[in-house]
Amino acid sequence: MIAPNTALNLSVLFLLVLLSGSSCSAADDVDFIYQGFQHASGSDLALDGSASVLHGGALRLTNDSNRLVGHAFRSSPVRFLHGGGRLASFSTAFVLDIVTVGSGGGHGLAFVVSPSTTLPGASPEIYLGVFGPTTNRNASNHVLAVEFDTVMDLEMDDINGNHVGVDVNSLFSNVSEPVAYYAGDGDNTKVPVTLESAQPIQAWIDYDGGSGVLNVTVAPVSVATRPRRPLISTKLDLRPVFKEDMYVGFSSSTGKLASAHYILAWSFRTNGPAQPINLRRLPKVPRPSSGPSKLVIVKFAAVACAGTLAVIAAGMAAVRWVRKRAALADKLEDWELEHPHRFPYRELYNATKGFKQSELLGAGGFGQVYKGVLRRRRSAGDLVAIKRISAGTRQGMKEFVAEVASLGRMRHRNLVELRGWCKHGQDLLLVYEFMPNGSLDSRLFGTGAGAAADRDKASPPPLAWAQRFAVLGGVARGLLYLHEEWEHVVVHRDVKANNVLLGADMGARLGDFGLARLYEHGADPASTRVAGTLGYMAPELTVTSRATTAADVFSFGALLLEVACGRRPVEPPPPDEATADGGDAPDVVLVRWVRDCGLAGDLLRAVDPRLEGCYDEGEARLVLWLGLMCSQVRPETRPTMRQVSRYLSGEEAIQEDAELVFSGANTAEYFGSSVSMTWSSSGGTMSASSLQGGR
Ligand SMILES: *[C@@H]1O[C@H](CO)[C@@H](O)[C@H](O)[C@H]1NC(C)=O
Ligand SMILES: *[C@@H]1O[C@H](CO)[C@@H](O)[C@H](O)[C@H]1NC(C)=O
Ligand SMILES: *[C@@H]1O[C@H](CO)[C@@H](O)[C@H](O)[C@H]1NC(C)=O
Ligand SMILES: *[C@@H]1O[C@H](CO)[C@@H](O)[C@H](O)[C@H]1NC(C)=O
Ligand SMILES: *[C@@H]1O[C@H](CO)[C@@H](O)[C@H](O)[C@H]1NC(C)=O
Ligand SMILES: *[C@@H]1O[C@H](CO)[C@@H](O)[C@H](O)[C@H]1NC(C)=O
Repeated sequence: MIAPNTALNLSVLFLLVLLSGSSCSAADDVDFIYQGFQHASGSDLALDGSASVLHGGALRLTNDSNRLVGHAFRSSPVRFLHGGGRLASFSTAFVLDIVTVGSGGGHGLAFVVSPSTTLPGASPEIYLGVFGPTTNRNASNHVLAVEFDTVMDLEMDDINGNHVGVDVNSLFSNVSEPVAYYAGDGDNTKVPVTLESAQPIQAWIDYDGGSGVLNVTVAPVSVATRPRRPLISTKLDLRPVFKEDMYVGFSSSTGKLASAHYILAWSFRTNGPAQPINLRRLPKVPRPSSGPSKLVIVKFAAVACAGTLAVIAAGMAAVRWVRKRAALADKLEDWELEHPHRFPYRELYNATKGFKQSELLGAGGFGQVYKGVLRRRRSAGDLVAIKRISAGTRQGMKEFVAEVASLGRMRHRNLVELRGWCKHGQDLLLVYEFMPNGSLDSRLFGTGAGAAADRDKASPPPLAWAQRFAVLGGVARGLLYLHEEWEHVVVHRDVKANNVLLGADMGARLGDFGLARLYEHGADPASTRVAGTLGYMAPELTVTSRATTAADVFSFGALLLEVACGRRPVEPPPPDEATADGGDAPDVVLVRWVRDCGLAGDLLRAVDPRLEGCYDEGEARLVLWLGLMCSQVRPETRPTMRQVSRYLSGEEAIQEDAELVFSGANTAEYFGSSVSMTWSSSGGTMSASSLQGGR
């Protein structure tokens, strides 16, 4: 006997078979919409890593913890390739929301079309959970991704820290654009959009399988209507990329920089336009608590006015509190909003316990440096160093902040990470990663800036040669990066031991890049002074204040000699060495002294005696030679940082060309505070052989 419902099922099955037989492509077409994900079941969506659906219906790919990867894919595959290599068209619309506590979150999210829902080999941070170090750039990935990236990843040649990119099998984007939409008459006005603005942003991705054109359009949900002109419209042949069946979904990751990444709604369709998302029914996402609102304060004040003495007292306390809040609040100028990585002053105030004296790490010409603990929601604090520069009424602050903000996403293992900035009144605050092992300067000469005189008494053991050599190699790589590998040429202008910091692994990080510009921007044109530090400053800077990479090379040369010799570029004369005529003895100029050692045929005599002979002679010769080459008076004769790096890494052998380095026209000498160039002829007759002593 056949039960009636079974009969029904059979007939439905029969109908389905009929349908799929008669109209193949129609049955293959996919069309779905998630107006919030609260009704998505486990069989519907494949979630992995940190991805989860919140009660309110938002799909959270990651929270703002570090180094997470989250994936969410539609569980059933989508047919993209049909017989005869015919490619399906597809259309998708979704609403994303990226929430960052503090500033400088990461790393972004991507819409992904992939042969699997798990993306094997996927890594966090810069890989967005889509690829990993072993899979990036491999054509056997068969992955299309459209990335919404909030970090400028130099390793991926990113254009900025807020871009949309179209990626095929690799996070090196085929096309990328700063996030924006077109508006206005003729759709020609480009309006920038900030992904990390904690506002819902809608994105549309449309692909025409026939013409092979992929369009990406983005607009804040508040704009309501879809911009007619796409932000990206690019020809992309996906036939070699797509397999027959592919999965569609999202991937996101966090790293040291972290944001919460949400998808609020999603619709997708093949061979037709995706269903429009109802923007009034978007789920809410948890917002970071941002203290009591103004409304609460107003109510509080009103109650106080009506109340008794006690309440009045409370009201006065409230007024004080409001005043304090006002003092801590940021008065923003329009341009400040344009630059990412701005920290609220309140956060930095709190991090340094109100810029308490006990948190002071150091002070110098540039201002004070405080140790700080950034408290982010539910996480143990993040150690940072906060540099407070009293910029006074400098003009040029705006330009400088623009530069700082753009440098903020620059990351390289030999550069101190600049986490963000804040302008408060006349003060500029820069937030750096914390370097536990201090500066190279303090490691070479004991603590403090003025410790050179009593370095013999300094307690920590001198840096071993291997460490010194590694530090120099690191600084060279960092400088090379600034000079040649970053999108703009960045001249550091203040390379010196004090600006080389040591990480927990004793790896060298160059700090304060670009900072010297503040002084230039702000300087009174009538009294433009040269930025830099005496002894590290290239002689040509006294003639022209135009900073060049060759001037950085000169400074690096001074650093090479300083590290090898354990002496500062310019030192006051030893106190017991009074000159015959009773006048002041001249300062000891390191370059000259090293050169004299070389001229006397014993270059290695210049090596730091505190090493007690424990050093690699080949490396030491290399460092000293290179130091002299970089210290040449004529900028064009100095090597470039690329050459310097190649010498230091042993990729290229240095030519010990005494003629060149010691030729009469190429000797710089410093005397005290005045720089003089001595066109010495005494060295002109030196031969290379006399420099090869000491081995
Ligand atoms: C963030 O997500 C990860 C992975 O799901 C989880 O282990 C962690 O506890 C979450 N952190 C917070 C602060 O909710
Ligand atoms: C690309 O991936 C495939 C499959 O995982 C692997 O066999 C191949 O070696 C990879 N190619 C490269 C160049 O890494
Ligand atoms: C992509 O954008 C271009 C330019 O607006 C438009 O002509 C084309 O029809 C769009 N293609 C798709 C698949 O939306
Ligand atoms: C996209 O970029 C990849 C890697 O650079 C390249 O192999 C591929 O040909 C590009 N595809 C298109 C359609 O431009
Ligand atoms: C900083 O914030 C923490 C937690 O929000 C709070 O307990 C502490 O009192 C604040 N410190 C200062 C100096 O404002
Ligand atoms: C560098 O810092 C780390 C972490 O603070 C510490 O463990 C290590 O001993 C330091 N190294 C030196 C040489 O001081």
